[in-house]
Amino acid sequence: MKTAPILVAGLILGSFAVGGVGLVAMTHELTDTRIAANKREAMLTKLKAIVPSGRVANDPLADRIEVSDPGLLGGAQTEVFRVRDQDDQPVAAILQPVVPDGYAGPIRLLVSVLHDGSLGGVRVLEHHETPGLGDKIDEKKDDWIVEQFNGKSLGDPPPEQWQVKRDGGVFDQFTGATITPRSVVRAVKNTLLYVRRAGDALYAPTQVAEPEAAPQAPAATPVEAAPAQARSAYARNQGAG
Ligand SMILES: Cc1cc2nc3c(=O)[nH]c(=O)nc-3n(C[C@H](O)[C@H](O)[C@H](O)COP(=O)(O)O)c2cc1C
Repeated sequence: MKTAPILVAGLILGSFAVGGVGLVAMTHELTDTRIAANKREAMLTKLKAIVPSGRVANDPLADRIEVSDPGLLGGAQTEVFRVRDQDDQPVAAILQPVVPDGYAGPIRLLVSVLHDGSLGGVRVLEHHETPGLGDKIDEKKDDWIVEQFNGKSLGDPPPEQWQVKRDGGVFDQFTGATITPRSVVRAVKNTLLYVRRAGDALYAPTQVAEPEAAPQAPAATPVEAAPAQARSAYARNQGAG
């Protein structure tokens, strides 16, 4: 039996298999990197649309903390991106609260609260509301979310008017679909209440460890990784001090 040609053929086949697997792995890696970069770009575009133009001098995606107030923010943990200007002054805190009681399930929001307490804007990140009814909260379907909230604050309108018009407030509802806008208005108001309670600590810069500082044990939870002032705000919100 001629073993040499069989061996050579085996080696050639083997090298093709190894090369093929390597190529697939490399393509997968490159695609993952591209997808992550695209997602990051898309999020940055969304953030920049809800802060005053030209006032974003930092990377808000890197300047982020996590806070927790399920009662007001709708989830166990809530991400907060902070926006700063050229003078490193706080411009906005952009929170990602969850509307727990959408018509068809939770709705994820992006809520920009400027440093003066007014809203820079609100956007929907994810929802399951009914097409043609509750999905008008999506900026791609309707201007409702772009037009209703900009510039509003807890003082304008007064707290009792933070409701849809049908309930005596100032916010438009949708024809035949009041549940969705009612829930979104309540969640945005709750986010403003949270920000007022957290105060300036929410806008404080993330503390960066000095290079020569002794290494510290990693924080147990993202909330503990928040700046000291934000941690104390968090503790206050939890009634712990
Ligand atoms: C199939 C179906 C889907 C609906 N989807 C929504 C929705 O996404 N959001 C919403 O607020 N109401 C939705 N509604 C209507 C609500 O059941 C409810 O009637 C309405 O929100 C009350 O508002 P109205 O008092 O203005 O009619 C839906 C109703 C049906 C039958």
